[in-house]
Amino acid sequence: MHTDKRDFDQEAAVWDEHPTRVRLAKDIAGAIVGQGVVKPETAALDFGCGTGLVTLRLQPLVRSITGVDSSQGMLEVFSAKIAQLQFTNVRAQFCDPDQGDRLSGSYDLVVSSMTLHHIKEIVPLFAQFYAILAPGGYLCLADLDVEDGRFHDSPAGVFHYGFDREVLRQSLIAAGFVGGETVTASEIEKPGSNGAIRRFPVFLMTARKP
Ligand SMILES: C[S@@+](CC[C@H](N)C(=O)[O-])C[C@H]1O[C@@H](n2cnc3c(N)ncnc32)[C@H](O)[C@@H]1O
Repeated sequence: MHTDKRDFDQEAAVWDEHPTRVRLAKDIAGAIVGQGVVKPETAALDFGCGTGLVTLRLQPLVRSITGVDSSQGMLEVFSAKIAQLQFTNVRAQFCDPDQGDRLSGSYDLVVSSMTLHHIKEIVPLFAQFYAILAPGGYLCLADLDVEDGRFHDSPAGVFHYGFDREVLRQSLIAAGFVGGETVTASEIEKPGSNGAIRRFPVFLMTARKP
């Protein structure tokens, strides 16, 4: 597993041109809504929001949503969408916990889609999620099930080859959360080197701060 950072800034301008990513975000947002955790009074935070593919699907359903990312390039694309669509309940915020930045504020819902495997130390991040959630608030994490490292074309910035659902759930329990049920939110298909299709399931885990 590589430790170099992936250059998301470079990819931001064309991020949404991949139909697989758009479909995946739709599936994940749909799975989050399916958990019954998205309400008109909800103040939500999307950690690792990228260009806002998931954030903006949740936007019409919540009171407010903050998209947080460590890539200025991603945040520029996201901010341009917010400005163009004149959304008043969405904001973009730079934060890189890997560099010591800390999340702040108080939220009813924290979501994160396909970002966790890019985070080296997830346990301190879970403590931050816990700290910014109001009592009774929900955490929804979407990521890959354990894979063999072939999901990414380049290993740069990939710190986890997916996650074992039960191991991840136990990490959340250790951080103080309860629950941790999972559903399979989507499946990504990629052509393998021998022409065969490889399938990568994506789970959504939902936990709650008591
Ligand atoms: C695979 S993209 C997913 C983007 C978006 N959630 C989606 O589903 O389309 C991962 C995102 O996580 C962000 N990211 C990676 N490491 C991060 C970190 N340490 N802190 C905050 N964001 C990070 C990247 O900049 C990128 O936008």
